[in-house]
Amino acid sequence: RILVLDFGSQYAQLIARRVREQHVYCQIVRHDITAERIAELAPRGVILSGGPNSVYEEGAPQIDPAIFDLNIPVLGICYGMQVACQALGGKVDNTPSREFGRAMCEFLDHDSIFRGMKDSEQVWMSHGDQVSQIADDFTVMARTSTCPYAAIRHNTRPVYAMQFHPEVTHTPHGGQILHNFVREVCGCDGTWRLGDFADAAVEQIRKQVGDKRVICGLSGGVDSSVVAALLYKAIGSQLSCILVDNGMLRKNEQKIVIEEFSNHFKTDLHVVDAEDQFLSDLAGVEEPQEKRRRIGYAFIECFKSEATKIEDAHFLAQGTLYPDVIESGADKDGPAATIKLHHNVGGLPEELGFELIEPLRDLFKDEVRRLGLELGLPEQLVWRHPFPGPGLAVRCLGEVTREKLVVLREADAIVVEEIENAGLYRETSQAFAVLLPVQSVGVMGDARTYDNAVAVRCVNTDDFMTADWSHLPYDLLARISTRIINEVKGVNRVCYDISSKPPATIEWE
Ligand code: XMP
Repeated sequence: RILVLDFGSQYAQLIARRVREQHVYCQIVRHDITAERIAELAPRGVILSGGPNSVYEEGAPQIDPAIFDLNIPVLGICYGMQVACQALGGKVDNTPSREFGRAMCEFLDHDSIFRGMKDSEQVWMSHGDQVSQIADDFTVMARTSTCPYAAIRHNTRPVYAMQFHPEVTHTPHGGQILHNFVREVCGCDGTWRLGDFADAAVEQIRKQVGDKRVICGLSGGVDSSVVAALLYKAIGSQLSCILVDNGMLRKNEQKIVIEEFSNHFKTDLHVVDAEDQFLSDLAGVEEPQEKRRRIGYAFIECFKSEATKIEDAHFLAQGTLYPDVIESGADKDGPAATIKLHHNVGGLPEELGFELIEPLRDLFKDEVRRLGLELGLPEQLVWRHPFPGPGLAVRCLGEVTREKLVVLREADAIVVEEIENAGLYRETSQAFAVLLPVQSVGVMGDARTYDNAVAVRCVNTDDFMTADWSHLPYDLLARISTRIINEVKGVNRVCYDISSKPPATIEWE
């Protein structure tokens, strides 16, 4: 495996993904991890990430210098380069002109990490400081017109460092550099495969669970489906699944989830029909946060009451992913917590005395999708757009009523169907309808109408932290609008949401 020491970079996760793309297992750890702990973990290589600080400022994240004595290859990137240089006798200064963006880099060395690079290639720079002086033990490997030490190597130790970012796509041959480092310099053989991951996870689950029973909440989304598939493969009929239908699901969703479940699993499924309870809990509530709170609370109640009916249940499985683990600070070697609470069933395991199983906690979302395919789940399930826990409630603005949900479900089904028919479902990250708390005047036939307005929301995004509205073709928008107004009773106006995130969010509430 390779370790990435996280110095607070927004790119640390990206580095880890790029390494895994080389079929090498990679883990992100705290920057202040000791050399002793690294020796225990025995990685084949260590990558020092970038970071927002200046190494020479007081309190800036530092590295245990003994790491350089372990004889494990080290690659420093940006801040990682600066911290390595400083620890090994170089000097770092503020750059007169901050460098941000593409730069042409001259490669003086075409061995080891730069095997296959041309004499001059585009790279991506993003820094305020840079190394101004290197110790005698270092050799320059690359430079740009403003950065004399764009890349360096130690003469006797396996230590490499670069000021630019090989992990971003704006460094077109950055993948080659990372490949060279992990495969050639570190000697990783690139045999880490998701299939092997699945086999190891199955073994591990069997050992942990023994002959006890595991409960898994099912939502119809990809994460919970992959967890269920993995558990089913491991323990078969010792698995019980619970689907809470909160009445906020999309058109035919309960039926689709049950059908898919029965196609893939021959085990216990509990469907809780809780529409009435959720609707009564939401009656008269308009404030978005209060709606979410009540839904979260009702979900826990429903799940709990069903779970206690399942005899011998000992474990609760959750689809926690690696970014959640990193961001929640749950990994003892992982970077410090930035406190982002995840867990759609937060607090449940402790309250019910369950032990937690999180078989996806080492994987990124795209890896979970690939694992789902390996486990035989169908493409359309694996590539399903994400759907928020509170469901249609956050897309039915203002008070949620049964009647409004009927209108919203029909409109939403048309949006998704038309986007699928246009072959654009995989290209868009999320596409749905929102029922606005607004009536407007229209004319249908000879009669005046005073009906609801629906907003169509489609976004493209990689990480759901930022998003752009999808530039859908006008004729597709026209078909969506015509069909909603003709087919959905109670709607006489359709608008397209052309706001990006930020400053808007993807959902409307
Ligand atoms: P926003 O609206 O914050 O949404 O831009 C970002 C992504 O998160 C999803 N989302 C949720 N997912 N429970 C979830 O499981 C929630 O309460 C929730 N709220 C928003 C949203 O659909 C989008 O993909």
